[in-house]
Amino acid sequence: MASGRGSNFQAIIDAGIRNETPDVEIVQLVVNKPGVGAIQHAEKNNIPYEVIDSSKMSREEFDKKTIKIFEEKKIEVVVLAGFMRLLTSVFITKYKDRILNIHPSLLPAFPGSQAHKDTIAYGTKISGCTAHLVDEGVDSGPIIMQSAIQINQNETENSLSEKILVHEHKILPQALQLLCSNKIILEGRKVRIKSD
Ligand code: GRF
Repeated sequence: MASGRGSNFQAIIDAGIRNETPDVEIVQLVVNKPGVGAIQHAEKNNIPYEVIDSSKMSREEFDKKTIKIFEEKKIEVVVLAGFMRLLTSVFITKYKDRILNIHPSLLPAFPGSQAHKDTIAYGTKISGCTAHLVDEGVDSGPIIMQSAIQINQNETENSLSEKILVHEHKILPQALQLLCSNKIILEGRKVRIKSD
């Protein structure tokens, strides 16, 4: 699921092409805004997509429509690849521990939709990104992987976002492969990775 330019979605496609995600099959894209960049990535790669305009309906209605599509396609795992809308408990319960999100900060620092801005404003010297499972809170679910970057004196929101994005593109497909190969064991909110 995506809401924007879809570079994380493309990163998942690319990891598949490089044979790095043998247990991942990309079946369906759902976007919640017409005309977003993610659609072009789906078209170029022959991946079916659906636009469900979330501005025209309630959160629950959006979630129910999405679930219907996913049920028809027998979707097992959902990735929020730059999906900028909160999901309701209807959706989260349906795909419990099977929803993966990528967030541009080292959680639990700076959850929410303004992570870069909040990071710069706070003045931390390190940031990064987090691939995590989605629970009912905002960016609060069990952490699968994180990757850190150094913040420079002259860092801006844009430069920070560009820097972190490179790391998002690495860990999101890796975390997805772990999830799809059933290597993730949950111990409370802690994630343990099964070794081979
Ligand atoms: C990423 O930084 C992601 O972490 C955040 O929104 C951005 C989406 O980028 N939630 P893209 O649409 O994947 O290019």
